[in-house]
Amino acid sequence: MELLEALRLQWEWGADEALLDAPQDRRNQAPPPEVAQFASPPPAPKRQATKPAGLPAAPADARKAAEACATLEELEAALKSFTGCPLRDTATQLVFADGAADARLIIVGEAPGAEEDREGRPFIGPAGQLLDRMLGSIGLDRTQVRIINTVPWRPPGNRTPTEGEVAMCLPFLHRQIALIRPRGLLLLGAVAAKAVLPPEAGQQGIRRLRGTWREVEIPGLDAPLPCLPSYHPAYLLRMPTAKAEAWRDMLTLKEWLTGSG
Ligand code: URA
Repeated sequence: MELLEALRLQWEWGADEALLDAPQDRRNQAPPPEVAQFASPPPAPKRQATKPAGLPAAPADARKAAEACATLEELEAALKSFTGCPLRDTATQLVFADGAADARLIIVGEAPGAEEDREGRPFIGPAGQLLDRMLGSIGLDRTQVRIINTVPWRPPGNRTPTEGEVAMCLPFLHRQIALIRPRGLLLLGAVAAKAVLPPEAGQQGIRRLRGTWREVEIPGLDAPLPCLPSYHPAYLLRMPTAKAEAWRDMLTLKEWLTGSG
């Protein structure tokens, strides 16, 4: 019973993926270098105040790293080496993006889930399959759009990313949008809407926001970008009665795509 409780606790805290087929006995293994370094005497304090290693970087550092990228390849590489967001420590890998590099429409979701974390591609689990069907219903597929998330690493146990995590990753999201220069954004769910829309709009619930186009200033773009908030497909899977409204949003999107050339 105790073992079962311990297992349940691990699951609740997000340790819900077996990464290796067989258990490893690490008791007699040499510690990895990053652990071994704690065993040696601490280095003499430096004179100049520098940011201590291991503390989260400020969003300003993220902005600097993101804005230095001139291509999507550089941006992906910058994210791979960015250590300022603690989500990367618990995720299996970076989930950068899927779809076209010159898409007219960028779809912004919340965060990768278990399948996405395993495969390194966004929206491939049940919510992603529903998204594919929603796109198909208006004559699109994922090769014609760009799909990204507010944070590119899976939060442990699929919890909602914190405001701090989203803020830390936002400069990379903005940079990806600026490099692709789409005509508009589809914001799926409250987390994406809050991350991208200005604070006064983002505070409103997704039920209020959905279905209405809003313009958003994105750093690096000359003109405000139209954004359409809608429900997240994972919410639609739990709440099928909301599908009628989501369908209306897809028609709004289709009409706009047809008109925007
Ligand atoms: N939900 C999201 O918001 N993004 C994904 O990539 C998968 C599920």
